[in-house]
Amino acid sequence: MDKLSVASEKFLDVVRGQLARAEKIKQAGDFIDYKTLPQIVIGTVGGDGIGPAITAQAQRVLEFLLADEVAAGEVVFREIEGLTIENRVAVKQAIPEDVLADLTQCHVILKGPTTTPQRGDNWPNIESANVAMRKELDLFACIRPVRVPDQGIDWTIFRENTEGAYAVGSLGFEVDEDLAIDFTVTTTEGSERIIRAAFDYAKQNGKTRVTAVTKANVIKTTDGKFLEICKRIAAEYPEIAFDDWYIDIMTAKLIDEKRRREFQVMVCPNLYGDILSDEAAEFQGGVGTAGSANIGKRYAMFEAIHGSAPRMVKEGREIYADPSSMMRAGVMLLAHIGYQQAADKLEQALDICMYTEKKLTLTGRADGATNTAFTDYVMETVGRL
Ligand code: IPM
Ligand code: MG
Repeated sequence: MDKLSVASEKFLDVVRGQLARAEKIKQAGDFIDYKTLPQIVIGTVGGDGIGPAITAQAQRVLEFLLADEVAAGEVVFREIEGLTIENRVAVKQAIPEDVLADLTQCHVILKGPTTTPQRGDNWPNIESANVAMRKELDLFACIRPVRVPDQGIDWTIFRENTEGAYAVGSLGFEVDEDLAIDFTVTTTEGSERIIRAAFDYAKQNGKTRVTAVTKANVIKTTDGKFLEICKRIAAEYPEIAFDDWYIDIMTAKLIDEKRRREFQVMVCPNLYGDILSDEAAEFQGGVGTAGSANIGKRYAMFEAIHGSAPRMVKEGREIYADPSSMMRAGVMLLAHIGYQQAADKLEQALDICMYTEKKLTLTGRADGATNTAFTDYVMETVGRL
């Protein structure tokens, strides 16, 4: 076959797959109601690199906070093995089938960072496990809060989590040695559900402004569609102010000390949310301090926003890795399944340990606390509340 026919076939496959996905979104039921479940199953996945170390610490805090519920059988923790880069490479799957089967037996998942293979490194180019899990479990809303109270920063980023540049990130192709093509995808339903989630969150949490972030002046078709839907949905929430910015100037405005305080809730396509959330987290103390919720209608997964830091493990420093990102993810997990009081306690304790009292500091090295010591400190602080 000539290269144009090969390329056309590949393109058709992408379009077919995305049409099927769009149809599936339309068929998705309503959000699960955790209150009606006799037991909530929390799956924990260690992941790669520093993942197992920091996930174990976050799990320890959650088990401590939910001790009564676990004793009563209302909540059960289930450790899921096998989501490691070695296993994934061995079976050439982003998420090995048996691991996926275990994940689908849980209601919510606490997941440590996993290594993402990239072109040119030692691993074959399989899809990121994060990205695969978001797609497999249809976790469309990525929610990333960032707060720096003494600088007036209180942002919640709603990142679309299954579409955009990530929808077919591993299905791009090289037409010939000179031409490489990737795709970005926006659907009506996929946009509506994340945009609505952002406005509903604003409404329920006393926020007065939602800001869309796109590059609709250049990526006209897909970002243009996303922005158009934002404007349409904004009209349904007249009590909430709506504005829109392009990603380039938005990243600049986050550095503008006066203007940045004005942002509250941001909603954006996948890639911009990825970039913006790392930048935002930096003001709060870095990506090591930021947690992330990945919410779908049936499943939800909570994780750090950073990677697996294999270098720390190589240098034997995983015991010093900061577990606070995973604990912030734990705060969101608790709130999501209805244990708001426990969530508030953990959040308050983390604020005390990280920002006000600071009896222990993590530096990622031997001159700082170990993550076990820091976790003991957090639990001791919870006990004092
Ligand atoms: C994130 C990460 C992932 C992403 C990577 C590891 C694939 O950066 O969760 O933000 O790009 O979504
Ligand atoms: Mg990222």
